[in-house]
Amino acid sequence: MPTPLLSVFLAILISSSTTTADEATPVTRFQQYLRFKTAHPNPNYTAPVSFLTSIAESLGLKAQTFEFVAEKPVLLLTWTGSNPSLPSLLLNSHLDSVPAEPSKWIHPPFAAVRDQDGKIFARGAQDDKCIAIQYLEAIRNLKGRGFVPARTVHVSYVPEEEIGGEDGAQKFVASQVFDELRVGFVLDEGQASVNDEFRVFYADRSPWKVIIKAIGQPGHGSRMYDNGATENLMESVEVISRFRESQFDVLKAGKAPASEVISVNPVYLKAGIPSPTGFVMNMQPSEAEAGYDVRMPPAADPDLMRKRIAEEWAPAERNMTFEIQEKGPIRDLKGNPLVTATDDSNPWWSVFKQAIAAAGGKLGKPEILASTTDARFMRELGIPALGFSPMTNTPILLHDHNEFLEESVFLKGIGVYEHVISSLSSFEAVNDV
Ligand SMILES: *[C@@H]1O[C@H](CO)[C@@H](O)[C@H](O)[C@H]1NC(C)=O
Ligand SMILES: *[C@@H]1O[C@H](CO)[C@@H](O)[C@H](O)[C@H]1NC(C)=O
Ligand SMILES: [Zn+2]
Repeated sequence: MPTPLLSVFLAILISSSTTTADEATPVTRFQQYLRFKTAHPNPNYTAPVSFLTSIAESLGLKAQTFEFVAEKPVLLLTWTGSNPSLPSLLLNSHLDSVPAEPSKWIHPPFAAVRDQDGKIFARGAQDDKCIAIQYLEAIRNLKGRGFVPARTVHVSYVPEEEIGGEDGAQKFVASQVFDELRVGFVLDEGQASVNDEFRVFYADRSPWKVIIKAIGQPGHGSRMYDNGATENLMESVEVISRFRESQFDVLKAGKAPASEVISVNPVYLKAGIPSPTGFVMNMQPSEAEAGYDVRMPPAADPDLMRKRIAEEWAPAERNMTFEIQEKGPIRDLKGNPLVTATDDSNPWWSVFKQAIAAAGGKLGKPEILASTTDARFMRELGIPALGFSPMTNTPILLHDHNEFLEESVFLKGIGVYEHVISSLSSFEAVNDV
Protein backbone atom coordinates (compact mmCIF):
# COMPACT_ATOMS: atom_id res chain seq x y z
CA MET A 1 0.00 0.00 0.00
CA PRO A 2 1.38 3.43 -0.85
CA THR A 3 1.34 6.07 1.85
CA PRO A 4 -1.57 8.53 1.62
CA LEU A 5 0.83 11.23 0.50
CA LEU A 6 2.24 9.05 -2.23
CA SER A 7 -1.15 8.06 -3.53
CA VAL A 8 -2.18 11.70 -3.75
CA PHE A 9 1.06 12.39 -5.57
CA LEU A 10 0.40 9.50 -7.92
CA ALA A 11 -3.18 10.52 -8.49
CA ILE A 12 -2.03 13.96 -9.54
CA LEU A 13 0.72 12.74 -11.80
CA ILE A 14 -0.84 9.79 -13.51
CA SER A 15 -4.06 9.62 -15.45
CA SER A 16 -7.14 8.08 -13.95
CA SER A 17 -7.02 5.01 -16.17
CA THR A 18 -3.71 3.89 -14.75
CA THR A 19 -4.81 4.12 -11.10
CA THR A 20 -5.54 0.56 -10.12
CA ALA A 21 -8.35 -0.46 -7.84
CA ASP A 22 -5.81 -1.23 -5.09
CA GLU A 23 -4.51 2.31 -4.94
CA ALA A 24 -7.94 3.90 -5.09
CA THR A 25 -9.53 5.27 -1.92
CA PRO A 26 -12.72 7.28 -1.43
CA VAL A 27 -10.61 10.44 -1.68
CA THR A 28 -8.77 9.42 -4.85
CA ARG A 29 -12.08 8.41 -6.44
CA PHE A 30 -13.43 11.84 -5.50
CA GLN A 31 -10.36 13.48 -7.05
CA GLN A 32 -10.71 11.41 -10.20
CA TYR A 33 -14.33 12.43 -10.55
CA LEU A 34 -13.41 16.08 -9.99
CA ARG A 35 -10.93 15.98 -12.88
CA PHE A 36 -13.55 15.40 -15.56
CA LYS A 37 -14.12 18.61 -17.49
CA THR A 38 -17.82 19.01 -16.90
CA ALA A 39 -18.00 22.80 -17.03
CA HIS A 40 -20.42 24.59 -19.28
CA PRO A 41 -20.60 25.54 -22.08
CA ASN A 42 -19.09 22.19 -23.20
CA PRO A 43 -19.47 19.69 -20.41
CA ASN A 44 -17.97 16.29 -21.18
CA TYR A 45 -20.57 13.81 -19.91
CA THR A 46 -19.29 10.59 -21.46
CA ALA A 47 -16.13 10.33 -19.37
CA PRO A 48 -17.74 10.83 -15.91
CA VAL A 49 -20.67 8.58 -16.82
CA SER A 50 -18.35 5.71 -17.75
CA PHE A 51 -16.28 6.33 -14.59
CA LEU A 52 -19.37 6.20 -12.35
CA THR A 53 -20.72 3.19 -14.24
CA SER A 54 -17.55 1.24 -13.60
CA ILE A 55 -17.68 2.04 -9.87
CA ALA A 56 -21.35 1.06 -9.77
CA GLU A 57 -20.69 -2.23 -11.52
CA SER A 58 -17.83 -3.01 -9.16
CA LEU A 59 -20.35 -2.55 -6.32
CA GLY A 60 -22.91 -4.82 -7.96
CA LEU A 61 -25.36 -2.02 -8.71
CA LYS A 62 -27.41 -2.09 -11.89
CA ALA A 63 -26.36 0.79 -14.15
CA GLN A 64 -28.48 2.19 -16.98
CA THR A 65 -27.86 5.22 -19.15
CA PHE A 66 -30.74 7.07 -20.80
CA GLU A 67 -30.58 9.84 -23.35
CA PHE A 68 -33.86 11.70 -23.09
CA VAL A 69 -32.00 14.34 -25.11
CA ALA A 70 -29.16 13.25 -27.42
CA GLU A 71 -25.70 13.45 -25.81
CA LYS A 72 -27.15 14.50 -22.48
CA PRO A 73 -27.06 11.23 -20.58
CA VAL A 74 -28.85 10.44 -17.34
CA LEU A 75 -27.11 7.66 -15.41
CA LEU A 76 -29.38 5.62 -13.17
CA LEU A 77 -28.00 3.15 -10.63
CA THR A 78 -30.20 0.71 -8.79
CA TRP A 79 -29.75 -1.25 -5.57
CA THR A 80 -32.77 -3.47 -5.38
CA GLY A 81 -34.36 -3.79 -1.97
CA SER A 82 -35.65 -6.90 -0.25
CA ASN A 83 -39.15 -5.45 -0.48
CA PRO A 84 -39.21 -3.67 -3.82
CA SER A 85 -42.94 -3.07 -3.54
CA LEU A 86 -42.14 -0.18 -1.17
CA PRO A 87 -41.76 3.26 -2.74
CA SER A 88 -38.10 3.77 -3.58
CA LEU A 89 -35.47 6.19 -2.33
CA LEU A 90 -33.73 8.37 -4.94
CA LEU A 91 -30.35 9.99 -4.37
CA ASN A 92 -29.77 12.64 -7.03
CA SER A 93 -26.83 14.77 -8.10
CA HIS A 94 -25.90 16.63 -11.28
CA LEU A 95 -22.96 15.82 -13.52
CA ASP A 96 -22.27 19.32 -14.79
CA SER A 97 -20.50 22.31 -13.27
CA VAL A 98 -20.33 26.02 -13.84
CA PRO A 99 -17.21 27.36 -15.58
CA ALA A 100 -14.12 28.48 -13.67
CA GLU A 101 -11.55 31.17 -14.46
CA PRO A 102 -8.25 29.30 -13.98
CA SER A 103 -6.20 32.51 -13.68
CA LYS A 104 -8.12 33.44 -10.52
CA TRP A 105 -7.50 30.09 -8.81
CA ILE A 106 -4.52 29.10 -6.70
CA HIS A 107 -4.70 25.56 -8.17
CA PRO A 108 -6.07 24.59 -11.59
CA PRO A 109 -9.85 24.10 -11.24
CA PHE A 110 -9.87 20.63 -12.80
CA ALA A 111 -6.72 19.24 -11.18
CA ALA A 112 -8.29 18.36 -7.81
CA VAL A 113 -5.10 19.25 -5.98
CA ARG A 114 -5.07 18.26 -2.31
CA ASP A 115 -2.96 20.72 -0.32
CA GLN A 116 -1.02 19.93 2.84
CA ASP A 117 -4.07 20.83 4.98
CA GLY A 118 -6.18 18.24 3.19
CA LYS A 119 -8.19 20.77 1.20
CA ILE A 120 -9.18 19.43 -2.20
CA PHE A 121 -9.50 22.25 -4.73
CA ALA A 122 -11.76 21.81 -7.74
CA ARG A 123 -14.73 23.25 -9.52
CA GLY A 124 -17.51 21.02 -8.31
CA ALA A 125 -15.83 20.02 -5.03
CA GLN A 126 -18.90 21.41 -3.20
CA ASP A 127 -21.36 21.71 -6.07
CA ASP A 128 -22.01 18.87 -6.25
CA LYS A 129 -19.47 16.18 -7.08
CA CYS A 130 -18.90 15.48 -3.38
CA ILE A 131 -22.34 13.95 -2.88
CA ALA A 132 -22.06 12.03 -6.16
CA ILE A 133 -19.14 10.03 -4.76
CA GLN A 134 -20.31 10.04 -1.12
CA TYR A 135 -23.54 8.26 -2.14
CA LEU A 136 -21.45 5.48 -3.73
CA GLU A 137 -18.94 5.24 -0.90
CA ALA A 138 -21.75 4.97 1.63
CA ILE A 139 -23.34 2.19 -0.41
CA ARG A 140 -19.94 0.48 -0.67
CA ASN A 141 -19.58 0.54 3.13
CA LEU A 142 -23.16 -0.59 3.75
CA LYS A 143 -22.76 -3.47 1.31
CA GLY A 144 -19.44 -4.31 2.95
CA ARG A 145 -21.29 -4.77 6.22
CA GLY A 146 -23.88 -6.98 4.58
CA PHE A 147 -26.66 -4.39 4.86
CA VAL A 148 -29.65 -5.07 2.58
CA PRO A 149 -32.14 -2.23 2.04
CA ALA A 150 -35.84 -3.00 2.31
CA ARG A 151 -36.91 -0.45 -0.26
CA THR A 152 -35.01 -0.08 -3.53
CA VAL A 153 -32.39 2.66 -3.62
CA HIS A 154 -31.76 4.53 -6.88
CA VAL A 155 -28.90 6.92 -7.54
CA SER A 156 -29.28 9.33 -10.45
CA TYR A 157 -26.69 11.49 -12.17
CA VAL A 158 -28.28 14.11 -14.37
CA PRO A 159 -26.87 16.61 -16.88
CA GLU A 160 -27.64 20.32 -17.41
CA GLU A 161 -28.64 21.33 -13.86
CA GLU A 162 -26.46 24.43 -13.98
CA ILE A 163 -28.29 25.72 -17.06
CA GLY A 164 -31.80 25.09 -15.78
CA GLY A 165 -32.28 21.33 -16.01
CA GLU A 166 -34.69 21.41 -18.96
CA ASP A 167 -32.66 18.81 -20.84
CA GLY A 168 -31.71 16.98 -17.66
CA ALA A 169 -33.82 16.39 -14.57
CA GLN A 170 -36.95 17.90 -16.09
CA LYS A 171 -37.01 15.37 -18.96
CA PHE A 172 -35.97 12.51 -16.66
CA VAL A 173 -38.71 13.26 -14.15
CA ALA A 174 -41.30 13.50 -16.94
CA SER A 175 -40.29 10.10 -18.38
CA GLN A 176 -41.93 6.72 -18.05
CA VAL A 177 -38.59 5.45 -16.73
CA PHE A 178 -38.94 7.79 -13.76
CA ASP A 179 -42.59 6.92 -13.26
CA GLU A 180 -41.69 3.25 -13.02
CA LEU A 181 -39.14 3.92 -10.26
CA ARG A 182 -42.08 4.76 -7.95
CA VAL A 183 -39.94 7.23 -6.04
CA GLY A 184 -41.19 7.97 -2.53
CA PHE A 185 -38.50 10.37 -1.39
CA VAL A 186 -35.56 12.25 -2.91
CA LEU A 187 -32.33 13.57 -1.53
CA ASP A 188 -30.67 16.18 -3.76
CA GLU A 189 -27.87 18.70 -3.32
CA GLY A 190 -27.80 21.28 -0.55
CA GLN A 191 -25.12 23.74 0.55
CA ALA A 192 -22.17 24.01 2.87
CA SER A 193 -22.64 25.22 6.43
CA VAL A 194 -20.16 27.61 8.03
CA ASN A 195 -20.89 26.24 11.50
CA ASP A 196 -21.28 22.75 12.92
CA GLU A 197 -24.96 22.35 12.00
CA PHE A 198 -25.86 20.60 8.76
CA ARG A 199 -28.11 22.64 6.50
CA VAL A 200 -31.21 21.14 4.97
CA PHE A 201 -33.44 22.72 2.33
CA TYR A 202 -37.14 21.98 1.90
CA ALA A 203 -37.89 24.32 -1.00
CA ASP A 204 -36.19 26.37 -3.69
CA ARG A 205 -36.97 29.81 -5.01
CA SER A 206 -38.23 29.90 -8.56
CA PRO A 207 -36.29 32.12 -10.98
CA TRP A 208 -38.15 34.37 -13.41
CA LYS A 209 -36.52 36.34 -16.15
CA VAL A 210 -38.61 39.46 -16.60
CA ILE A 211 -38.09 41.66 -19.65
CA ILE A 212 -40.00 44.91 -19.99
CA LYS A 213 -40.09 46.89 -23.21
CA ALA A 214 -41.27 50.41 -23.99
CA ILE A 215 -42.01 52.05 -27.28
CA GLY A 216 -42.65 55.72 -27.90
CA GLN A 217 -42.48 58.59 -30.31
CA PRO A 218 -38.88 59.23 -31.46
CA GLY A 219 -37.86 62.86 -31.55
CA HIS A 220 -35.10 65.45 -31.54
CA GLY A 221 -33.04 65.42 -28.39
CA SER A 222 -33.77 69.11 -27.88
CA ARG A 223 -37.54 68.67 -27.50
CA MET A 224 -39.33 67.91 -24.27
CA TYR A 225 -42.43 65.80 -24.84
CA ASP A 226 -44.38 63.14 -22.96
CA ASN A 227 -44.33 59.39 -23.51
CA GLY A 228 -40.98 58.83 -25.14
CA ALA A 229 -39.85 55.22 -24.95
CA THR A 230 -36.95 55.80 -22.57
CA GLU A 231 -39.06 58.08 -20.44
CA ASN A 232 -41.75 55.39 -20.22
CA LEU A 233 -39.19 52.76 -19.35
CA MET A 234 -37.62 54.93 -16.66
CA GLU A 235 -40.99 55.35 -14.96
CA SER A 236 -41.26 51.57 -14.75
CA VAL A 237 -37.70 51.27 -13.51
CA GLU A 238 -38.64 53.58 -10.63
CA VAL A 239 -41.75 51.53 -9.81
CA ILE A 240 -39.71 48.32 -9.83
CA SER A 241 -36.97 49.87 -7.71
CA ARG A 242 -39.55 50.81 -5.08
CA PHE A 243 -40.85 47.24 -5.02
CA ARG A 244 -37.27 45.96 -4.77
CA GLU A 245 -36.64 48.29 -1.83
CA SER A 246 -39.76 47.08 -0.03
CA GLN A 247 -38.46 43.50 -0.23
CA PHE A 248 -34.90 44.48 0.62
CA ASP A 249 -36.11 46.41 3.68
CA VAL A 250 -37.71 43.24 5.06
CA LEU A 251 -34.39 41.48 4.59
CA LYS A 252 -32.30 44.31 6.07
CA ALA A 253 -34.56 44.49 9.11
CA GLY A 254 -33.96 40.79 9.66
CA LYS A 255 -37.68 40.02 9.35
CA ALA A 256 -37.10 37.28 6.78
CA PRO A 257 -34.09 35.43 5.36
CA ALA A 258 -32.96 36.18 1.82
CA SER A 259 -34.65 33.05 0.51
CA GLU A 260 -38.11 34.14 1.71
CA VAL A 261 -38.42 37.49 -0.02
CA ILE A 262 -39.02 38.18 -3.70
CA SER A 263 -35.64 39.30 -4.93
CA VAL A 264 -35.59 41.67 -7.90
CA ASN A 265 -32.34 42.66 -9.54
CA PRO A 266 -31.85 44.77 -12.66
CA VAL A 267 -29.48 42.99 -15.03
CA TYR A 268 -29.57 45.09 -18.17
CA LEU A 269 -30.87 48.32 -19.61
CA LYS A 270 -31.03 48.71 -23.36
CA ALA A 271 -31.81 51.96 -25.15
CA GLY A 272 -30.23 54.50 -27.45
CA ILE A 273 -28.99 54.46 -30.99
CA PRO A 274 -25.34 53.42 -31.25
CA SER A 275 -22.88 55.63 -33.14
CA PRO A 276 -19.20 54.93 -33.89
CA THR A 277 -18.22 56.93 -30.81
CA GLY A 278 -20.93 55.80 -28.42
CA PHE A 279 -24.54 56.86 -28.85
CA VAL A 280 -26.42 59.33 -30.98
CA MET A 281 -27.06 61.96 -28.35
CA ASN A 282 -29.48 64.30 -30.08
CA MET A 283 -32.17 61.74 -30.77
CA GLN A 284 -34.71 60.22 -28.40
CA PRO A 285 -35.03 56.51 -29.27
CA SER A 286 -38.33 54.81 -30.10
CA GLU A 287 -37.58 51.64 -28.12
CA ALA A 288 -36.09 50.85 -24.74
CA GLU A 289 -36.01 47.76 -22.58
CA ALA A 290 -34.79 46.40 -19.27
CA GLY A 291 -34.20 42.89 -17.96
CA TYR A 292 -34.66 41.74 -14.37
CA ASP A 293 -33.75 38.59 -12.48
CA VAL A 294 -36.68 37.90 -10.15
CA ARG A 295 -36.68 35.03 -7.63
CA MET A 296 -39.98 33.87 -6.23
CA PRO A 297 -40.12 32.11 -2.87
CA PRO A 298 -42.62 29.24 -2.65
CA ALA A 299 -45.04 31.28 -0.54
CA ALA A 300 -45.26 34.08 -3.13
CA ASP A 301 -48.37 34.20 -5.25
CA PRO A 302 -47.36 33.91 -8.92
CA ASP A 303 -50.71 35.22 -10.19
CA LEU A 304 -50.42 38.31 -8.04
CA MET A 305 -46.88 38.86 -9.33
CA ARG A 306 -47.95 38.50 -12.96
CA LYS A 307 -50.73 41.01 -12.31
CA ARG A 308 -48.29 43.43 -10.69
CA ILE A 309 -45.95 43.16 -13.67
CA ALA A 310 -48.79 43.69 -16.16
CA GLU A 311 -50.40 46.59 -14.31
CA GLU A 312 -47.52 48.39 -12.63
CA TRP A 313 -44.23 47.36 -14.17
CA ALA A 314 -45.21 47.30 -17.83
CA PRO A 315 -48.66 48.86 -18.26
CA ALA A 316 -50.03 48.81 -21.79
CA GLU A 317 -51.31 52.40 -21.29
CA ARG A 318 -47.68 53.47 -21.19
CA ASN A 319 -46.92 51.57 -24.40
CA MET A 320 -45.16 48.87 -22.47
CA THR A 321 -45.02 45.15 -23.08
CA PHE A 322 -43.39 42.43 -21.04
CA GLU A 323 -42.17 38.88 -21.19
CA ILE A 324 -41.81 36.50 -18.25
CA GLN A 325 -39.66 33.41 -18.66
CA GLU A 326 -40.41 31.14 -15.75
CA LYS A 327 -37.64 28.68 -15.15
CA GLY A 328 -39.47 25.71 -13.80
CA PRO A 329 -42.60 25.30 -11.72
CA ILE A 330 -43.66 27.30 -8.68
CA ARG A 331 -46.67 25.13 -7.76
CA ASP A 332 -47.00 21.35 -7.78
CA LEU A 333 -49.42 19.55 -10.08
CA LYS A 334 -52.15 19.87 -7.44
CA GLY A 335 -51.59 23.63 -7.19
CA ASN A 336 -49.76 23.59 -3.85
CA PRO A 337 -46.53 25.50 -3.14
CA LEU A 338 -43.44 23.43 -3.94
CA VAL A 339 -42.40 22.66 -0.39
CA THR A 340 -41.49 19.47 1.40
CA ALA A 341 -42.96 19.19 4.88
CA THR A 342 -40.38 19.22 7.67
CA ASP A 343 -42.62 18.07 10.51
CA ASP A 344 -44.16 14.85 11.73
CA SER A 345 -46.68 14.87 8.88
CA ASN A 346 -43.81 13.68 6.69
CA PRO A 347 -42.52 10.30 7.89
CA TRP A 348 -39.44 10.59 5.67
CA TRP A 349 -38.49 13.79 7.47
CA SER A 350 -38.68 12.15 10.88
CA VAL A 351 -36.51 9.25 9.75
CA PHE A 352 -34.02 11.61 8.08
CA LYS A 353 -33.77 13.76 11.20
CA GLN A 354 -33.21 10.75 13.44
CA ALA A 355 -30.54 9.42 11.09
CA ILE A 356 -28.59 12.70 11.30
CA ALA A 357 -28.74 12.54 15.09
CA ALA A 358 -27.65 8.90 15.04
CA ALA A 359 -24.67 9.95 12.92
CA GLY A 360 -23.72 12.40 15.67
CA GLY A 361 -24.74 15.39 13.60
CA LYS A 362 -26.74 18.51 14.37
CA LEU A 363 -29.35 19.74 11.94
CA GLY A 364 -30.01 23.46 11.47
CA LYS A 365 -33.48 24.94 11.02
CA PRO A 366 -34.82 23.79 7.63
CA GLU A 367 -34.32 26.47 5.01
CA ILE A 368 -35.53 27.58 1.62
CA LEU A 369 -32.68 27.61 -0.88
CA ALA A 370 -32.15 31.11 -2.28
CA SER A 371 -31.34 29.63 -5.69
CA THR A 372 -32.71 26.54 -7.47
CA THR A 373 -31.94 22.87 -7.86
CA ASP A 374 -33.39 19.91 -9.72
CA ALA A 375 -35.39 18.99 -6.61
CA ARG A 376 -38.15 21.32 -7.79
CA PHE A 377 -38.99 18.92 -10.63
CA MET A 378 -39.57 16.08 -8.15
CA ARG A 379 -41.50 18.33 -5.78
CA GLU A 380 -43.72 19.30 -8.71
CA LEU A 381 -44.92 15.68 -8.83
CA GLY A 382 -45.68 15.88 -5.13
CA ILE A 383 -42.64 13.77 -4.18
CA PRO A 384 -40.99 15.00 -0.97
CA ALA A 385 -37.41 16.10 -1.64
CA LEU A 386 -34.74 17.57 0.63
CA GLY A 387 -31.59 19.39 -0.39
CA PHE A 388 -28.71 18.11 1.70
CA SER A 389 -24.94 18.14 1.21
CA PRO A 390 -23.18 17.10 4.43
CA MET A 391 -20.56 19.86 4.74
CA THR A 392 -20.15 21.53 8.13
CA ASN A 393 -17.58 24.18 9.11
CA THR A 394 -16.95 24.85 5.45
CA PRO A 395 -17.00 28.21 3.66
CA ILE A 396 -19.73 28.43 1.02
CA LEU A 397 -17.77 28.38 -2.22
CA LEU A 398 -20.15 27.07 -4.84
CA HIS A 399 -19.64 28.92 -8.13
CA ASP A 400 -16.76 30.83 -6.47
CA HIS A 401 -13.03 30.89 -7.16
CA ASN A 402 -10.96 28.30 -5.26
CA GLU A 403 -13.91 26.06 -4.49
CA PHE A 404 -12.63 23.37 -2.15
CA LEU A 405 -13.75 20.72 0.29
CA GLU A 406 -11.67 19.40 3.14
CA GLU A 407 -10.90 15.72 2.94
CA SER A 408 -12.04 15.20 6.55
CA VAL A 409 -15.41 16.81 5.79
CA PHE A 410 -15.80 14.68 2.67
CA LEU A 411 -15.02 11.50 4.62
CA LYS A 412 -17.32 12.42 7.49
CA GLY A 413 -20.12 12.93 4.97
CA ILE A 414 -19.82 9.32 3.83
CA GLY A 415 -20.58 8.17 7.36
CA VAL A 416 -23.56 10.52 7.54
CA TYR A 417 -24.97 9.05 4.33
CA GLU A 418 -24.50 5.52 5.68
CA HIS A 419 -26.90 6.41 8.49
CA VAL A 420 -29.26 8.32 6.21
CA ILE A 421 -29.40 5.72 3.44
CA SER A 422 -29.72 2.75 5.77
CA SER A 423 -32.52 4.42 7.78
CA LEU A 424 -34.48 5.79 4.85
CA SER A 425 -34.23 2.52 2.97
CA SER A 426 -35.30 0.29 5.81
CA PHE A 427 -38.35 1.87 7.42
CA GLU A 428 -41.57 0.40 6.10
CA ALA A 429 -44.22 2.92 7.10
CA VAL A 430 -44.86 4.47 3.71
CA ASN A 431 -46.51 1.78 1.68
CA ASP A 432 -47.84 3.33 -1.43
CA VAL A 433 -47.13 6.23 -3.69
C1 LIG B 1 -14.26 13.39 -22.70
O1 LIG B 1 -13.17 13.15 -21.85
C2 LIG B 1 -12.47 11.97 -22.14
C3 LIG B 1 -11.35 11.75 -21.13
O2 LIG B 1 -11.48 12.48 -19.98
C4 LIG B 1 -11.87 12.06 -23.55
O3 LIG B 1 -11.22 10.84 -23.88
C5 LIG B 1 -12.97 12.33 -24.55
O4 LIG B 1 -12.41 12.54 -25.83
C6 LIG B 1 -13.77 13.56 -24.13
N1 LIG B 1 -14.89 13.72 -25.03
C7 LIG B 1 -15.13 14.86 -25.66
C8 LIG B 1 -16.33 14.89 -26.55
O5 LIG B 1 -14.43 15.83 -25.53
C1 LIG C 1 -47.49 55.22 -27.51
O1 LIG C 1 -46.69 55.18 -28.67
C2 LIG C 1 -47.22 55.98 -29.72
C3 LIG C 1 -46.38 55.70 -30.96
O2 LIG C 1 -45.05 55.91 -30.75
C4 LIG C 1 -47.25 57.42 -29.30
O3 LIG C 1 -47.77 58.22 -30.30
C5 LIG C 1 -48.07 57.55 -28.05
O4 LIG C 1 -48.02 58.90 -27.55
C6 LIG C 1 -47.60 56.61 -26.97
N1 LIG C 1 -48.50 56.67 -25.84
C7 LIG C 1 -48.09 56.61 -24.57
C8 LIG C 1 -49.13 56.69 -23.53
O5 LIG C 1 -46.91 56.46 -24.28
ZN1 LIG D 1 -25.36 22.20 -7.85
